[in-house]
Amino acid sequence: MEFSSGQADRGRLIEAQAFSAKAILIGTYEEKQKTQASLHLDELERLVDTFGLLSVQKLLCPLRKISAKTLLGKGKVEEIRDLVVAEEVTLVIFDDEISPQQQRNLEKILGAMVVDRTELILAVFAQRAHTKEAKMQIALAQYQYQLPRLKRLWTHLGRQRVGGSKGGFLKGEGERQIEIDRRLLRRKITVLRKSLEELKKNRSIKRRRREKEHLVTFAIVGYTNAGKSTLLNALTNAGVFVEDKLFATLDTKSTVYHLPNNQKILLIDTVGFVRKLPHRIIEAFKSTLEEAAHADILLHLIDASSETVLEEIDAASEVLKELHADKKPMIQVLNKTELPLSKEASALQFRYPKLVKISALEQKNFSQLIDAMMEKIQNLRRRLVFRFDQKDYQYAAKLMQEGEVLSKSYEGNDLIIEVQVPERIQKQFSQFIEPA
Ligand code: GTP
Repeated sequence: MEFSSGQADRGRLIEAQAFSAKAILIGTYEEKQKTQASLHLDELERLVDTFGLLSVQKLLCPLRKISAKTLLGKGKVEEIRDLVVAEEVTLVIFDDEISPQQQRNLEKILGAMVVDRTELILAVFAQRAHTKEAKMQIALAQYQYQLPRLKRLWTHLGRQRVGGSKGGFLKGEGERQIEIDRRLLRRKITVLRKSLEELKKNRSIKRRRREKEHLVTFAIVGYTNAGKSTLLNALTNAGVFVEDKLFATLDTKSTVYHLPNNQKILLIDTVGFVRKLPHRIIEAFKSTLEEAAHADILLHLIDASSETVLEEIDAASEVLKELHADKKPMIQVLNKTELPLSKEASALQFRYPKLVKISALEQKNFSQLIDAMMEKIQNLRRRLVFRFDQKDYQYAAKLMQEGEVLSKSYEGNDLIIEVQVPERIQKQFSQFIEPA
């Protein structure tokens, strides 16, 4: 299926952006969480700025009891409504996820478009996706987000036109239209899923080809804005898009890199992680993120200047866990160390004694990073199949002493052994490796 971004309903936020809409940002916090919530709200502001909207006010509200109808209590909602009027804003953006019902009610009371964190992230992603696959993944997530929210548009329209003059809707027409739209949306979702499945197959064919070449693969992972693309660029001059905006990278880019010992490795840049990343977005990006899951070693990049670095590490770990990649060999890399370290970042050395400190921007300490990468490669164990003919049985015996034998069989006089072996052994016995 040919797909262009125009086909996806890119949502109300694109329109708001076109009109340079002004927004009020709302964060909520539970007891003793105010400082953290305030940092989260700053991040929301960066997201809003990344998207190209103007935030005119930030408001932090205590959340003692969650209202099923409006998230916040009546008093707070009224306070926000007064702000909306005073600041003449058309947009209110919440840092939390809000239900379709809460969104509907809040819009009615506030007289402004109400957007939650998920809708904003999806819009940012839609704006920044470059490849066909990334665009399709985002469109899929957006359709899924819209499905339970369709009703809002049509009940509104239905009510307006019922009883109106010529051409007005008959009662119930809005409801019928919702059903038609839902069906259409479901169909689009099915088509997109199928196309994505195809792309996934192609990707795994490419991956297998790569595995045949026995290239060790490193995936650079980390919180959004940690400097992943900058590092990949600095290491390889790959010309990957770098920008001081969140989520500059939504597409997986990879490049071959020669280590000082002349070994070729594959470096992969991945989409940035973010806290409170809605599950459906992780789901949507799973096939892109799978590149990280299939890498041999992860380079986890951490922003030394961030005040919330521990949370960012946790957010990255959560996503890696979802991808079943959290047990992979990993190098923790503290980036931006030419800047003053945040309090949390200064304490990281105790948590990660092997922490590598670099500056991707100033290309500082790269030799230490490369040493750490080479050390990890040395310890890397791989499952490989070896074939020995009779005259080479002596080498087979040696290999079996060095690695963990998983299976052993004969084909005629050839001895076939599947062994889990470290990198240095792979090299030693490379002539006997059976192509995958
Ligand atoms: P996402 O695509 O959002 O995941 O971001 P990323 O992790 O790929 O970050 P990117 O490389 O786009 O860099 C984000 C910002 O941090 C840019 O403004 C970079 O110039 C800056 N940056 C990257 N490395 C360093 C560094 O070592 N020091 C400083 N001071 N800034 C850096």
